[in-house]
Amino acid sequence: MYSKSIIATAALSLALCQQSFAATAAQWRSRSIYQVLTDRFARSDGSTTATCDTGDRLYCGGGYKGIQNNLDYIQNMGFDAVWISPVTSQIIGDTVYGYAYHGYWQQNLYELNTNFGTASDLKALSAALHARGMYLMVDVVVNHNGWSGASTTVDYTQFNPFNAESHYHPYCTIDYTDTANATNIEQCWVGDDSVTLPDLRTEDSDVAAGYQTWIGQLVANYSIDGLRIDTVMQVDTGFWSAFSAAAGVYMVGEVDEADADYVCGFQDYLPGVLNYGTYFALVSAFSSTSGSISDLATIMGTVKGACKDTSLLGTFSENHDQPRFASLTSDMALARNVVTFTMLDDGLPIIYEGQEQHYNALGGSSDPYNREAMWFSLYDQTAPLYTLIATLNALRKQAASDDATYLTYQNYPIYTDTTTLAMRKGKMVTVLSNNGAAGAAYTQSIASGYAAGTAVTEVLTCATLTADSSGNLVVPMASGQPRVYYPTTGLTGSGLCGAASRMRFMPRTKPRIKSMFARPS
Ligand SMILES: *[C@@H]1O[C@H](CO)[C@@H](O)[C@H](O)[C@H]1NC(C)=O
Ligand SMILES: *[C@@H]1O[C@H](CO)[C@@H](O)[C@H](O)[C@H]1NC(C)=O
Repeated sequence: MYSKSIIATAALSLALCQQSFAATAAQWRSRSIYQVLTDRFARSDGSTTATCDTGDRLYCGGGYKGIQNNLDYIQNMGFDAVWISPVTSQIIGDTVYGYAYHGYWQQNLYELNTNFGTASDLKALSAALHARGMYLMVDVVVNHNGWSGASTTVDYTQFNPFNAESHYHPYCTIDYTDTANATNIEQCWVGDDSVTLPDLRTEDSDVAAGYQTWIGQLVANYSIDGLRIDTVMQVDTGFWSAFSAAAGVYMVGEVDEADADYVCGFQDYLPGVLNYGTYFALVSAFSSTSGSISDLATIMGTVKGACKDTSLLGTFSENHDQPRFASLTSDMALARNVVTFTMLDDGLPIIYEGQEQHYNALGGSSDPYNREAMWFSLYDQTAPLYTLIATLNALRKQAASDDATYLTYQNYPIYTDTTTLAMRKGKMVTVLSNNGAAGAAYTQSIASGYAAGTAVTEVLTCATLTADSSGNLVVPMASGQPRVYYPTTGLTGSGLCGAASRMRFMPRTKPRIKSMFARPS
């Protein structure tokens, strides 16, 4: 009798696990995302020695099973969403231009890239994430397909489902210096003329309808909770609304441009965009001790005003297309500041695999060198940036539960000088420095906005401070380290700095089984 009900409960919870959260933008708002390059995160054989020379641009053997087997590593860092590479089947590529291990050279939307595993492996990963309360985000490309060869040699019958030349724009190259010419950006082909990327006529109703059918099926088949969309500015803006409705989940789009007004503009068409507007100023402010804090502060103001909903941006400081931060500077204090900003600015924080291990793209700085295999790190959960990120994820979660307005409160600079940036988001005051690890100690008085006498905790060192009679915080800065303040009473339940932890959710089956055995016979 007991065993029957236990089996029924287990079957029910399994059924629940297999459901997609099909999560909306509002459900994503509190999430933080770990970006995985599927081929490079973990191998299913668990090897930590398998060769992966980034310069070769070969498949290194990572896949869905490997990710599933290492979810503790991601979840223990505090992430509750994982972004994986495009899943669709690809052209092979070649030794000169590299192989399609990254997933951006798709050929057949209705087949999977079997290098990463089978359909059931992907479904198992999705179910394993959901069983942990985590979301699956899949990278999706609609702008183009991939072809090994010059534009004049494309055999369109090799593509599925868009298998006729009439589905594509004629070949031309994009002039990125002229973003005002939307036709040029939307209709010309990204990439070069070696591995060519035939550009879909997404403005045509048959192509748009084909994509809508496909994305609805993909989301349903693999219980996908959200999408990262590649090359968004290269697709006509009229495409997104129906595509978004067909997908039925949150999406965050890539608009790889520094002009914050231009990037924010795309939030009129998609719920989220990657925060490229902030990215360039952020990295430039902190990648050297002479970086411009004032440029970053200015951009923060632009993004705050221009983006429709800053709480749905994807905020990042590394990804697979941009230089590793550690390739720009090896200074760990600067790395800590850039990570702290990334985690605590508006939007969903995104950390690219390897950033937490201070990976530095040995041999280069950007693509393909910034795509190092994670197994060489031995998934070290004691690495300094790993533990920093875990603390900041916990703090962000705490702030969101302590303060209902935290996530939508727009972060803004409250103090700047040539090396210091203090910013306020809700009850959180963060003070950053680009002085670097060799930076001298100093104190900086910050008009914090706290009420006089508010007791605050600096969550990275657990030092405490009290706002003075004017509400100023006199912040002790040293060795270029970031400081993050939160009212001490607001930390209750966080487990941070000696505050009590919240009770963990216990599945109902556990106490039941226990009480069954505890019953006297
Ligand atoms: C815009 O780009 C298209 C496609 O490349 C081109 O034909 C057109 O001449 C451009 N328009 C202007 C005003 O430059
Ligand atoms: C989804 O699954 C159905 C049923 O197996 C299959 O016919 C369809 O091709 C799949 N679509 C995608 C995009 O995976």
